Amino acid sequence: MTRVDARDKVTGAVRFATDHHPEGMLHAALAVATIARGRVTAVHTGAAEAVPGVRLVLTRLSPDELRPAGHNMAGGFAVQSFQPLLGDRIAYRGQPIALVVADTVVAARAAADAVTADYAAEPAITGLDDEHAETVRQQEAIPIPFAADIVVGDPQAEYAAAPVHVDATYDHPAQNAAPLELLASIVAWNGDRLTVHEGTQNAGAVRHGLARQLGIDPELVRVVSPYLGGGFGQKNALQPHLGPLALAARRIGRPVRLELTRTQTFHQGSFRPRSRHRVRLGAQADGLIVAALHDATQQTSRHDLFPASYTKVTSRLYGYRAFGGSQHLVRTDVQTPGYMRAPYEQPAVWAFESAVDELAYALGLDPVALRLANDTTTDPVSGLRFSSRHVGECLRRGAELFGWAERDPRPGRMRGPDGTELGWGVAIGAYPASTAAASATIEVHADGSVTVLVDGHEMGQGLRSAVALLVAADLDIEVDRVNVRLGDTLDGAQHLTAGSWGTASALPAVHAALARLRTERDRQDRDPADPPSVATAGNGLPEAMLDRARQGLLAAAGPVYPTFTAYSFIAHFVEVAVEPVTRRIRVPRVVSVADCGRVASPVTAAAQVRGGVVWGLGGALREHLETDPRHGGFLNATLEDYPVTVNADIGVIDVDFVNRPDPLLNPLGVKGLGEVAMVGVAAAVANAVFHATGRRLRRLPIRLTDLL
Ligand code: MOS
Repeated sequence: MTRVDARDKVTGAVRFATDHHPEGMLHAALAVATIARGRVTAVHTGAAEAVPGVRLVLTRLSPDELRPAGHNMAGGFAVQSFQPLLGDRIAYRGQPIALVVADTVVAARAAADAVTADYAAEPAITGLDDEHAETVRQQEAIPIPFAADIVVGDPQAEYAAAPVHVDATYDHPAQNAAPLELLASIVAWNGDRLTVHEGTQNAGAVRHGLARQLGIDPELVRVVSPYLGGGFGQKNALQPHLGPLALAARRIGRPVRLELTRTQTFHQGSFRPRSRHRVRLGAQADGLIVAALHDATQQTSRHDLFPASYTKVTSRLYGYRAFGGSQHLVRTDVQTPGYMRAPYEQPAVWAFESAVDELAYALGLDPVALRLANDTTTDPVSGLRFSSRHVGECLRRGAELFGWAERDPRPGRMRGPDGTELGWGVAIGAYPASTAAASATIEVHADGSVTVLVDGHEMGQGLRSAVALLVAADLDIEVDRVNVRLGDTLDGAQHLTAGSWGTASALPAVHAALARLRTERDRQDRDPADPPSVATAGNGLPEAMLDRARQGLLAAAGPVYPTFTAYSFIAHFVEVAVEPVTRRIRVPRVVSVADCGRVASPVTAAAQVRGGVVWGLGGALREHLETDPRHGGFLNATLEDYPVTVNADIGVIDVDFVNRPDPLLNPLGVKGLGEVAMVGVAAAVANAVFHATGRRLRRLPIRLTDLL
């Protein structure tokens, strides 16, 4: 058995959040603002209240009953600092202006649709280039190390002195994670106790944020999130709908279920913001990159600074002598953007690895050889060694599997058997190997079966499988005798599962608990009075971090540790086939070789990489949130209009792993995998399109109209 929840998932036995229907449950729906910015001067609810079955129409809550939960990127618990329904301010189109509760979903939605409002609209800023937009230099606006410029050596001077230059600017669109499972919650009060079923990557923050909002003891709040239908960063904190929903349920005295519509999820969920990247590379004629400069500009909301962290990864891609990274934020009238799988790495590495390809052509060097020549064992920023770095092996093995040696380097020379223009492109990717505070408890039952309670969330990435495989192997029992419980605040802190740290954080805790169990059993062999059956352990992070996790606060270490820097790496090789007349771009095959340390769960790991590649193809060729410059929000806020990669877009994806345990990061040698999987895919596609057509495209997505 390789994916322990596979059977339950495909047979429908898994209960996702909205599958919970407590006794007496009612249904909620949201009415939303139709302007991008201004004030709401009146909300008309008469027609909504007249819909049969309507119990409550909430339009305004008082600040005493709903307190601020704080932005999770600024020490709080919520996806943004702004709380709808608390005042008359409209901060973005799609912001809730009323919450309706009714006996049925149909009645609730009909009533929400019947709500109308009057507004005093104000001019809104929707784009990066609006002349009235406020742009801030991040390191001044957010005075914390995470937000600071990264400067190594004297990049300006080294760049100026280099004989060969690339200077190019790349535009990345806004994108939405669009998980199949919508933003949704079921809330049920039992006296003063509150249970929330919600698909979240951070049950701990939802619990503590909601308790703070409602002014109640967090002990009274239980958040249950054992499975997600996709998270991808959009479900990493308290959502703005939850506080009002909990208050509505308390007012009515019945459980209430709210599932946002798809369009509402596009307009209320966090999203990958627009960004622009100027990349300058200064190189020697032999290919050595002596200086790299990366200046990034990113969209944020008017009410929050969602920090940019693009240069963190690009400063680690190669072993330059000098690196200069700066970041700016542009305030726009939109919900606060946030994390979306490889939030910074996907755009940053697309831009940077495109520039490296441009450099290869400027120098007349093979793109694989150029990358190998600039590999390093030392982190240029910290000066520390990488705990492990096998990106060179990823490149060599990938080139071999792909047949890279057969490539004619000249653009536009290769043809497929069907007459299509073939292009072969390569790019590398990297992603920080962070570790978050986590604990695990192992209970051995009298019948020999085992329950594992562990901090983390299962969003499809395979964490439950990795834990079960480790425990089964260690105790030498069948894997189906291991019951893994995740994501329930009754069982543990349930700290944020994100940043590709889920497996590398949970497994060391499980490993330590297994060791403790063994010690207890050895002692019992000498004194067989009372067979020990329970052991609990943390994953080795300082107690203060575990404490932060227990309070629902961000608690992660790395990627720079006291004596080393830890990153995961990957290399992607992509073939594109461009149809000569329509210019349609196909991707017949991809080879991806990853260095994620030891592979903890082979089947789910390969699936993770394939999924990341598929998403990378979507990022390169499909996905783009179209901002509405008139009314704010997004024009294509549905799955019909926001195109994601489908089966017809996907060819052969070959996945391989270096599979060498990291010797320093943790005792199991496991590094992260979920996000690095997609990093670099878009660059490899863009580089392949250049190779096929001679067109260098510096804006995503690449459309067939770009090749006409
Ligand atoms: Mo992920 S975007 O770190 O949830």
